[in-house]
Amino acid sequence: MTVSLDAQAVALVLGLFGTVYLYQASKKKQGGLPLPPGPKRLPVIGNLLDMPKGREWLVYEEWGKKYNSDILHADVFGTHIVVVNSAKAANELFDKRSTIYSDRPTLRALTSILKLEWVLGFIPYGQHWRNVRKGFHMHFHPAATLNYHPIEIRATSRLLENLLEEPVKFMDHLRTMAGEIILGIAYGIDVKPRDDPFVDTAEKTLHSIALGATEGSIFDLLPALLHFPSWFPGVGFKKEAQKWIPYNIGMVEDPYRRAKELLAEGSPTESVVSVAINQLRPGEDEYMAKHVPANMYLAGADTTVSALGTFFLAMSLYPEAQRKAQAEIDAVIGNERLPDFSDQDSLPYVGALVKEVLRWRQVVPLAIPHRLTEDDVYEGMFLPAGSIVFGNSWAILHDESVFPDANSFKPEHFLDPSVKYPEAAFGFGRRICPGRFMARASVWIAVACMLATFEITKARDENGKEIEPRDEYTSGIVSYPVAFQCQVKPRSKAAEAVIKSSAPLA
Ligand code: HEM
Repeated sequence: MTVSLDAQAVALVLGLFGTVYLYQASKKKQGGLPLPPGPKRLPVIGNLLDMPKGREWLVYEEWGKKYNSDILHADVFGTHIVVVNSAKAANELFDKRSTIYSDRPTLRALTSILKLEWVLGFIPYGQHWRNVRKGFHMHFHPAATLNYHPIEIRATSRLLENLLEEPVKFMDHLRTMAGEIILGIAYGIDVKPRDDPFVDTAEKTLHSIALGATEGSIFDLLPALLHFPSWFPGVGFKKEAQKWIPYNIGMVEDPYRRAKELLAEGSPTESVVSVAINQLRPGEDEYMAKHVPANMYLAGADTTVSALGTFFLAMSLYPEAQRKAQAEIDAVIGNERLPDFSDQDSLPYVGALVKEVLRWRQVVPLAIPHRLTEDDVYEGMFLPAGSIVFGNSWAILHDESVFPDANSFKPEHFLDPSVKYPEAAFGFGRRICPGRFMARASVWIAVACMLATFEITKARDENGKEIEPRDEYTSGIVSYPVAFQCQVKPRSKAAEAVIKSSAPLA
């Protein structure tokens, strides 16, 4: 939770008048039990001034060390914030007590202001969430995701072809690839090789979510601000949001309309929309047919891009890991064809490298905040109902006792069979990412094929000197590597030939 300085000042003044009552109420009976440790609270504003201004997961990890606890507490104007920093506590709370840890906080900037109340990740726990999640699960359970392998292979082949043509634009090509997969599955739409309008609209919506999750969090601390005019200091986000709303609506409407047109034109391509529309009974509401695929499109595109961006960064910083993975591919597959899903079991180092990509730098480092719906007690500490609960995937996947030298990229972390899949990268309990099986497959095939065909190294300046890539990430729900350069070259003439021969027809 990050709050801008301007908003902090306004919150301070308003808070003094408006939230004393709330704060008093929040101090209600704890049965004599202490809250989890955390920074010292000031009267009324609590920890407002301690709250991180960005990359919160790192700050919360530090708090864990400072207060020697795997569970932490802060409060801002009486809103309790609980951070879960260990796999043990995450399992105990999010999994074993999932009935009371599966709700979401209101996230007013995202739902009320940006009109994103249809986003599954923001829907409160209850029947509506269950219905949408069920609609999702139908298409993304492990067996269903096998059907998407051909789309993933095709999009990966196009990615390789694009990398061959314009290697410096590797991030753009990753976006096209992820868009091609998810728009194909959800809508049966073929994206343009570059600058696709559907991919572009999704980018804008994702950007608005990043803004809403940071600049807009003030509206969750002080909901009364929602009713203030947008010229009021600290409330400017309401005005800023207006320019993003058309994209957020377009993201649902535009691809759905296009998919219906394709269906009317007799397109044979099956998609989530085509199945849903064909199953609609006369007069039945189109909500699910429209919003389930929109959720796929929103949640599925840029998460994959962030993970694969991390792959490029890791390969340029850790050439030894790249060499080992390539040696394995050369020995098992040779250089006359691309790796396929059927090769997964024979490429254990590549599999470990993919897991390390998801562990080393996370796509969603604090998951999406959960909300505790009843008072609870964990190891003698009181956790109040209504708390916003962050599962700190970052801290869990950088636990030195499980991943020694955790800040280094070492696929070897996963060669030890006792170390499990980095599941925390996909969140917790009943809200765990429903797209994870497909995400794992998309990332695996892209990584295996890129390793087979390209050498990724640090870029060089005009004097031939290596440029050190920035190992920096953005803040927000989804975190991306900040733009960096690297050199992407085909490994050999044979690799080039394989790319060209496997390229899909335009
Ligand atoms: C590498 C790729 C991905 C990563 C690392 C990832 C990670 C996550 C995480 C951490 C959460 C939050 C879980 C929680 O709150 O505890 C989440 C939620 C979600 N993810 Fe993913 N995700 C990825 C790809 C995908 C894909 C491809 C899809 C769909 C096609 C998807 C759909 C969703 C949805 C719908 C939610 C919200 C679930 C809910 O609130 O019930 N994700 N994801």
